[in-house]
Amino acid sequence: MDVVTDIQSLQSKVSQWIQEGKSIGFVPTMGYLHEGHVRLMEAAREENDIVILSIFVNPLQFGENEDLDHYPRDEEHDRKTAEQNGVDLVFFPSEDVMYPEPMSMQISVVRRADVLCGRSRPGHFEGVVTVLTKLFNLCRPTRAYFGMKDAQQAAVVDALINDFNFPMTLVPVETVREADGLAKSSRNVNLSDEERMEAPALQEALQYGRKLVEEGEKNPDQLIKTTRKFLENKTRGKIDYIELLSYPSLEPLTTIDQQAILAVAVFYDKARLIDNVVFGKQGELIKG
Ligand code: PAF
Repeated sequence: MDVVTDIQSLQSKVSQWIQEGKSIGFVPTMGYLHEGHVRLMEAAREENDIVILSIFVNPLQFGENEDLDHYPRDEEHDRKTAEQNGVDLVFFPSEDVMYPEPMSMQISVVRRADVLCGRSRPGHFEGVVTVLTKLFNLCRPTRAYFGMKDAQQAAVVDALINDFNFPMTLVPVETVREADGLAKSSRNVNLSDEERMEAPALQEALQYGRKLVEEGEKNPDQLIKTTRKFLENKTRGKIDYIELLSYPSLEPLTTIDQQAILAVAVFYDKARLIDNVVFGKQGELIKG
């Protein structure tokens, strides 16, 4: 496995692979790799000749009150994990390599960003699409892999790829879950025992909501009201939002007549958990 920290070495490797007609699977990350990332690497390994993983904690996507300096890092563990999962090249640039001078260009995300978690993170998705534009141009992937835990990010990146005609495909990868259905997250360790017992209720509530659609519910307001009640009965966590939107366009729906996402965020004492389910217009499960 190659570990490359500069742009020139990366570009020369990538050009060689492209010339040889190899397909490239790309897994962009901010490091501190966990099971969710492993699932992305596995999917990339199955479908491509070459797998590139990038590790870069992108300052542009952190808000003023979000702690960039305390973002967890573990270089040694990340290298090992990448190697064990058949990654061919890790791109591990410094901030100076990625942003040698302040950017003169800015991409604004005018749709899909100001809903769900994006509402409370102004500027976040601008940072995400800016770094991904650079990384896609550098790695020239055939396919790029994104976890559906962050379904809004996958939707925004899907728009980036379509709007700017990147010659590549986004592959959404299903959320990795604990045996009881709780979405895996590094934040789960911050739950008390009692909260941990209650937390699978997020996914239960989402599946309950999806089943209501399967049974014929078409009214978004009614669906949200009933799902909220279900969740409130199962957990004392404070619901930040429950939203139903079209997916991937993330527009409000007046009736459930197309593919949709039902997403939830819940505050616990020391953790805020998110989860979602994507389903078709008859309530059939697409990604959960
Ligand atoms: O999901 C992440 O870890 C980041 O947002 C990404 C896609 C690597 C861009 O910095």
